[in-house]
Amino acid sequence: MLLRRIGQRGAAEKVERPELGTERLLLRRWRLSDRAPFAALNTDPAVMRYFPRPLTRQASDRLAERSDADLERQGWGLWALEQRANGRFLGFTGLARPTFEASFTPAVEIGWRLSRSAWGSGFATEAARAAAAFAFKELGLDELVSYTAASNARSRAVMRRLGMRQYPADDFDHPHVPEGDLRRHVLHRLTASQWDPS
Ligand SMILES: CC(C)(COP(=O)(O)OP(=O)(O)OC[C@H]1O[C@@H](n2cnc3c(N)ncnc32)[C@H](O)[C@@H]1OP(=O)(O)O)[C@@H](O)C(=O)NCCC(=O)NCCS
Repeated sequence: MLLRRIGQRGAAEKVERPELGTERLLLRRWRLSDRAPFAALNTDPAVMRYFPRPLTRQASDRLAERSDADLERQGWGLWALEQRANGRFLGFTGLARPTFEASFTPAVEIGWRLSRSAWGSGFATEAARAAAAFAFKELGLDELVSYTAASNARSRAVMRRLGMRQYPADDFDHPHVPEGDLRRHVLHRLTASQWDPS
């Protein structure tokens, strides 16, 4: 179990529970067998619609590898998402530190990416609730942020269902996104005191 709390701005410390569970889902370490379905969703135009470009197989594998290394090293990160009923790999949900500077960094972000066939079942919100509970209860974070292209209505709906609030003053042009329609991002925040675990 977690022995020490980390502050929002503090150094990450290892926590010893790398897996989370919900009624229908497992948030777990990555497996080699996730690589092919992960690469497939990372080239699906529907899934990648709000990203600048699809991921190559190599970039997709690197993301899976990095995500698992984070889970190994610090006990939290982007968890691989598995449907308990059938063992199907669905994508990822979890926590990450933004790698760019903005008005709201340093921060911990909550995010999600699921294969198209897994949309419309409430899986992203269910997994995100488990990740948020972990962030507040186990890591002792004060706040989570989430951001997406302004036009990404489905992702913004997950943020709303989680109880996140939009902060228009923190809207920003994502520095890793080329100029164009997708660059403007909206910022949502959820503080530990606003978090409703029920
Ligand atoms: C963003 C994303 C994860 C949202 O997925 P989603 O399936 O729309 O969101 P949820 O898992 O919360 O599911 C909610 C939907 O499931 C429905 N649902 C069905 N059964 C449900 C259940 N048992 N419990 C809850 N909701 C259920 C809800 O009514 C809702 O439907 P609606 O969209 O028609 O209103 C998905 O669109 C995605 O992976 N997009 C590509 C990647 C991306 O853009 N990521 C964000 C980048 S910042």
